[in-house]
Amino acid sequence: MNRGPTGPACLGAEFTLPTAGAGEPGIGGTPLVPLVVPVCGIDRRLWLKLEGANAYGSIKARTAHALIEHLEHNGGLEPGGSIVESTSGNLGVALAGICRARGYRCTLVVDRDTPRRSIILMADAGADVILVEPTAAGNPVAERLRMVRRILAADPRMRWTDQYGSPANPGVHERWTGPELARGIGAVGPDAVVAAISTGGTLAGLSAYFRRAHPNTTIVGVDAVGSAAIGGARGARPAKIPGFGSGRRSSFLCPGDWDVCVRVDDEYAAPACRVVRAATGLTLGGSSGAALLGAMVAARGDPELREIGVICPDLGAAYLNTIYASRRPPPLESEPALREGLADLAAARRRG
Ligand SMILES: Cc1ncc(COP(=O)(O)O)c(C=O)c1O
Repeated sequence: MNRGPTGPACLGAEFTLPTAGAGEPGIGGTPLVPLVVPVCGIDRRLWLKLEGANAYGSIKARTAHALIEHLEHNGGLEPGGSIVESTSGNLGVALAGICRARGYRCTLVVDRDTPRRSIILMADAGADVILVEPTAAGNPVAERLRMVRRILAADPRMRWTDQYGSPANPGVHERWTGPELARGIGAVGPDAVVAAISTGGTLAGLSAYFRRAHPNTTIVGVDAVGSAAIGGARGARPAKIPGFGSGRRSSFLCPGDWDVCVRVDDEYAAPACRVVRAATGLTLGGSSGAALLGAMVAARGDPELREIGVICPDLGAAYLNTIYASRRPPPLESEPALREGLADLAAARRRG
């Protein structure tokens, strides 16, 4: 398998996480739940890293913590200062909560795909929430970033956490999420780790850690059909899953950072979540459904992948009215690999 160049060259400036989460109670140390799924007649153990158990409800709690600490140490964020960020939901909820705890003002720019529940949580934590309307041909991320730049230009004391460019984003997953996942799975390390992509920070950080500490681990990235996160043209995504894929290319990821990349249609992520809930009782967020399908496709392609770590960025509470309320089947003209993946997931069982 082509391993290509390793990640750190893509991560920009060397980043130090001063306290690895200490001082921010409730972040990190998330549960690791094993599921057994037979794929091509071989039992595979999926280790679901339930990041929805973090304070503020998602993996973005780690990211938000690191972004703020980075600004405090390197970005001129002073006590009582102000930050701004563009967010599709989860990062904003975490930033709002941490800013409230640390006494910063927080302005969050969202778009109409941002779940209403996330906006309510941001506002409840005291953040100023600005909703941008994309133009007809618009790219929501580009519209949000335009607004962030206007806000920065209008107030020189405002600081941008910049989840798209800050080395603290991949850095926190390299130094914290990755080692925690590997420790939980066992001394030899997993055969594969799987992560869905949005900014690419999670996958880039995991890749940097596993390439160094467990070089035999296969890195599996999962991007959305129609996402430009790892290249390719941006396409229409009428059923877009929040926090999955992106209208802009990741500035953290280089092609050598992953061994396998699986493209998952948004319309498949939702049935995957429902199938997993029916089989196991776990109510996962939409991008977790995509990641699990990615894991199934990778497992079908490689019988050696037996112990597979899967990052599940959030839980399903924010999606009860969408993913879990729908009965919509996956598209008829669907990819055989994704159809097979759904069938595999239906046989998932919760045992060690
Ligand atoms: C639900 C969900 N899944 C996946 C991701 C992907 O994370 P990253 O931005 O690190 O690629 C995010 C990030 O916002 C998310 O909120």
